[in-house]
Amino acid sequence: GTPASKAKEMVTLTIDGFDVTVPAGTSIMRAAAEIGISVPKLCATDSIDAFGSCRLCLVEIEGRAGTPASCTTPVAPGLKVHTQNAKLKQLRRGVMELYISDHPLDCLTCAANGDCELQDMAGAVGLRDVRYEKGENHFEVRNTSGEVNPNWIAKDDSNPYFTYDPAKCIVCSRCVRACEEVQGTFALTIEGRGFGSRVSAGMAGDNFLSSDCVSCGACVQACPTGTLQEKSVIEIGTPERSVITTCAYCGVGCSFKAE
Ligand code: FES
Repeated sequence: GTPASKAKEMVTLTIDGFDVTVPAGTSIMRAAAEIGISVPKLCATDSIDAFGSCRLCLVEIEGRAGTPASCTTPVAPGLKVHTQNAKLKQLRRGVMELYISDHPLDCLTCAANGDCELQDMAGAVGLRDVRYEKGENHFEVRNTSGEVNPNWIAKDDSNPYFTYDPAKCIVCSRCVRACEEVQGTFALTIEGRGFGSRVSAGMAGDNFLSSDCVSCGACVQACPTGTLQEKSVIEIGTPERSVITTCAYCGVGCSFKAE
């Protein structure tokens, strides 16, 4: 869901006909999770502040216009919220369809296959078909005609520990927020607009290695797709032996024990 609220004041509301009481300031998404209702999401997590960019978590609130994002809408006393109905399901399928229309369809060979939230959410919202042509600004090497895509941006392989593939990015900003909030580094940003928007590790032409990135891995952990991928997963595989070490993996200097 979204991070917990530390407020002392409690608020009671109704979600899908069930009463729930949570601290003031809790998001509707988190309140729903408290009573076992899981609202589809891509950009929200339990640990980083909600951003409201993916628009999958839309809900309806009786007496209020529109379909607000449940991750960024706080609870209020007496609200009557609906998270599942035909209109919301149709809206979510439409949003998901647009994501998939601009995403490489190489799931079977993608290192994130089986561990990809985009894949999971496509299933959760019941997406069967995509009615749209792939976007021509897509960052895949070749466009839909098989020609080298003029908008192609090379995969960033510069960091020794992970790779960044802009073609798979859904611009949810989880990596950017994790970099800022978990690590306290400001190495990443979103540049460009619309189809052209992408995560960037500095000025044009810069890469992760030459950025302020300290290789803490928070962005890789936060990524819901195969965009940021540990090299160990791709190239080395699971280790058979383990050691206890203080490594130079990042600037934090923790020690870890791998079994
Ligand atoms: Fe709420 Fe993405 S999870 S907008």
